Amino acid sequence: MKKNQKRLLGIVFASLIVFTAACSGVQPPNQSVSQQGQETNKETSSGNNQDTNTIELAYNPPKMEELEGKDDPLSESIKRGYSYVNESDTALDQYVGNKLSCTSCHAGAGVGEASSLVGVTAVSPEYNPRAGKVMSIEDRINGCMVRSMNGEKLPLDSQELRDMVSYLQYISTGIPIGADIPWRKPNTMKVEDIPETDLVQGEEIYKKSCIACHGADGEGIGANTGPAVWGEHSFNDGAGMARLSTATMFIQRNMPVGQEGSLTIEEAANVAAYILSQERPKWKGRENDWPKGGAPKDSPYYDELKSVKEGL
Ligand code: HEC
Ligand code: HEC
Repeated sequence: MKKNQKRLLGIVFASLIVFTAACSGVQPPNQSVSQQGQETNKETSSGNNQDTNTIELAYNPPKMEELEGKDDPLSESIKRGYSYVNESDTALDQYVGNKLSCTSCHAGAGVGEASSLVGVTAVSPEYNPRAGKVMSIEDRINGCMVRSMNGEKLPLDSQELRDMVSYLQYISTGIPIGADIPWRKPNTMKVEDIPETDLVQGEEIYKKSCIACHGADGEGIGANTGPAVWGEHSFNDGAGMARLSTATMFIQRNMPVGQEGSLTIEEAANVAAYILSQERPKWKGRENDWPKGGAPKDSPYYDELKSVKEGL
């Protein structure tokens, strides 16, 4: 067996621990495989959980170093994709409209803790209520291109987009299609759950705990070391991060880098509100978001949405 085939199998086995098929009522035999030193989030559970589809997965994405010295076309594509994700503002400068990289929010080019993209190709396509349609992985990338990166869509037949898909597929190796990915943490917070925010306290926290990396004017010190949090080089107001609930959760879980989790929800909400009260680029497609209704109240342009005007 070739070395990389062996490695792949290892990942698949480490990943596939428990699978309970609830809908069909059929319970496949539990598989419990020794981890051989691989890190897992949790130990194998009993497998008696008939109410949910549960797959416990190991967080073990393949590393870029594993492709060192390989020059076959797919490896080359993955490597280019990695640089588009990690150095977007320079490597994709003709499309990116600010000074962010994907890594600015999806830490470590999508394999870090903050907004991990490991497994994302296994859960695409997926219905997206903001767009009101089913979105492919290419659509999701382009969604972040026009909002978070305040830029242009990558053409569907472009090499750049294909390379980014190759990279995201690579870091999703071994994650079964449709898996319930435990480290995929969508925004589950509702703006109604956030206490009333205090911009004065938000500014104090910013000056104390954020300014060193994100700058006095929010301009940042570098896309991957301290990205722009407001101003012309930051994300536009159509980005997920422009919603108070998303920014609060992101900051509470991931900031300040080095002391993640040290802020209370209230403190995170105050500093998020402070950042979002500053100037940033405007999203041009605003009117057409949430075309079928259900827009969240913390969309910065809630009152301008067509669906809201039409009472959907
Ligand atoms: C300013 C922060 C930010 C930047 C920069 C950013 N994203 Fe995102 N991305 C998000 C957030 C937040 C979400 C969650 C969905 C939402 O609320 O829009 C997301 C979701 C995604 C998803 C879907 C993930 C899932 O689990 O469904 C993909 C794929 C993605 N981003 C890719 C990218 C790529 C590729 C880039 C660079 C071109 C990028 N993102 C840049 C914030 C960002
Ligand atoms: C030691 C440096 C450092 C400190 C301090 C820090 N950050 Fe960050 N911040 C980063 C880095 C690096 C990223 C990119 C994502 C990652 O690596 O986790 C980031 C990403 C972000 C993002 C998403 C990207 C963007 O451009 O908007 C926000 C929002 C953010 N930080 C807010 C904060 C807030 C609020 C604080 C203070 C409570 C803070 N950060 C403190 C380094 C830092």
